[in-house]
Amino acid sequence: AAIEKGGYDHFMLKEIFEQPQTIFDSLRGRLDAEQQTITLSGVDKIKDKLIAANRIIIVACGTSWHAGLLAEYVIEELCRINVEVEYASEFRYRNPIITDKDVIIAISQSGETADTLVAIENAKKQGATIFGLVNVVGSSIARLSDAGAYTHAGPEIGVASTKAFTAQLALLYLIALKVGLEKQTIDSTLFNKLLGDLAKVPQYVHEILEEQDSVIKEIADKYSDARDFLYLGRGYNFPIALEGALKLKEISYIHAEGYPAAEMKHGPIALVDEQLPVVFVATKDNYHEKIVSNIQEIKARKGRVIAVVSQGDNVAASLADDVMVVPQVHEIIAPILSVIPLQLLSYYIGINRGLDVDKPRNLAKSVTVE
Ligand code: G6P
Repeated sequence: AAIEKGGYDHFMLKEIFEQPQTIFDSLRGRLDAEQQTITLSGVDKIKDKLIAANRIIIVACGTSWHAGLLAEYVIEELCRINVEVEYASEFRYRNPIITDKDVIIAISQSGETADTLVAIENAKKQGATIFGLVNVVGSSIARLSDAGAYTHAGPEIGVASTKAFTAQLALLYLIALKVGLEKQTIDSTLFNKLLGDLAKVPQYVHEILEEQDSVIKEIADKYSDARDFLYLGRGYNFPIALEGALKLKEISYIHAEGYPAAEMKHGPIALVDEQLPVVFVATKDNYHEKIVSNIQEIKARKGRVIAVVSQGDNVAASLADDVMVVPQVHEIIAPILSVIPLQLLSYYIGINRGLDVDKPRNLAKSVTVE
């Protein structure tokens, strides 16, 4: 087992540290930054359906659902196609309106999640085209799909998903960029900028792991006894706030909630006191000053602020009690970087609490019964 873990104490840590390679693998042969092209045969296969799609409906569970939520923001922006994101367990039972002009993207690491599988079976019967974004080759969801793309993250052993999630994001960016280019809803300057940033993500993730690991370990030591955590993000980083909170819950059993940063005023702000750590996913974006003022609101109520910030952003950094720094990239690409420190934070807090981070109680790697 020690050999399988490649020198790491746990599969989770190994898989977090594999991400420069796994993200590279998910882009390999697909993204060509020099030629400025994207090759995805699965997208080509249903290209007409995608371009003419009335809606894209994303169906998933758990961490994969969070990847789907980010994809909604990205696809709507870059492709101008209406996107809905559905929990598979809800979608399958609520008699949704589906036509043959709908494209379903099913996102699943295992490709075996029962709710996701049945949801797409039903949608297929109603004429929808199914695109599978799956990690496990030859899995049930992959076989049922009309077209798809494998995430190529390799086997994920840790029950809480890490490298499969970032591989899903990498693929979703490629899909959105490719469809946006075909539909001409994205101009070439933005396309090239995003493609260039995406190509550098493996290197950026490597830098985050190198530079922030020991910093995050120290932050974890300070907050491991907290009873609750709040995670806040806006825009493209909102799904990452949800994922950060989920990761902490799964690994540390600390109650954590993710919220859109501004929505906190409608409830969670009542919880803020000097005990409550609030994690802000606050990398630079087009309305950065909004989240900075949300940080000020938490500080004014004596909350403890941990912030994920872009390199060089002294404004957000100076307001926070603790900071985790990531390279600055275009705001659309930023989430694939900002999730990395949050994975490490959960890992170290779980370790500090003496828990089995690879196999948290009551959770299963793949939920094949409903
Ligand atoms: C379980 C796993 C999660 C995963 C979810 C969806 O809850 O513990 O890590 O995100 O299932 O799994 P899938 O294989 O469909 O992505």
